[in-house]
Amino acid sequence: MTQASEQAAADDVFDADTYAKAQDLISRYPQSRSALLPMLHLVQSVQGYVSQEGIAFCAKNLDLSDAEVSAVATFYTMYKRRPCGEHLVSVCTNTLCAAMGGDAIYEKLQTHLGSEEKPLEHNETAGTPNEPGSITLEHAECLAACDLAPVIQVNYEYFDNQTEEKAVALVDALQAGKKPAPTRGAPLTSFKGAELQLAGFFPEDAQQYRTDVDGPSQAVETLRGAQVAQDRGWTAPAMKDVPLPEVEKK
Ligand code: FES
Repeated sequence: MTQASEQAAADDVFDADTYAKAQDLISRYPQSRSALLPMLHLVQSVQGYVSQEGIAFCAKNLDLSDAEVSAVATFYTMYKRRPCGEHLVSVCTNTLCAAMGGDAIYEKLQTHLGSEEKPLEHNETAGTPNEPGSITLEHAECLAACDLAPVIQVNYEYFDNQTEEKAVALVDALQAGKKPAPTRGAPLTSFKGAELQLAGFFPEDAQQYRTDVDGPSQAVETLRGAQVAQDRGWTAPAMKDVPLPEVEKK
């Protein structure tokens, strides 16, 4: 496909509202190319992945080449190269979660969403992508909630202290069209809905959304170290006042 025909295809996929959102994003940065990361999330909010048309859309709006956009889109794991399900289920299998049961949870979901004979593989979808109840499964590296291991995210919202049974009940509910409440943070939406938020566009009830997102999220486990230190009177050693090294000017 030529660049001109790719851009014509992009115009078929992305409507006027998406173009308006793209211009809004660009206006937030001194240089248009700086808007590439949120722009890729905007693309995913429409298509559920970064397609070739999505790459052309970003390139056209940001005055970049397709190769420059592709280089970024293929570097980060949050940009999907295949259409995602209605929900993205990420199971942490990094060291701590793995030891606490994350590996077993991932294997359980692989066969539960696939079958014993054909377990669902990393980034595969149970159901038809974009259709209600479809689920893309992935294993993820540390999801930054080790104190609440093992953890799962659905569309990047946290479900803490998981077990195989809880994980199965969670995906069953998602497949049945339910939206179970995450342990903390914003209410569950869909992968595309989460992508719109990651692009920087929030639900109509912005006040409620901020209250949910900014509300207390630390658990007893999160504060245990600080509590032990306080109980025992431990403090961090004083830092020496060492001047910062000179940085060579470029
Ligand atoms: S190892 Fe799973 S959240 Fe850190």
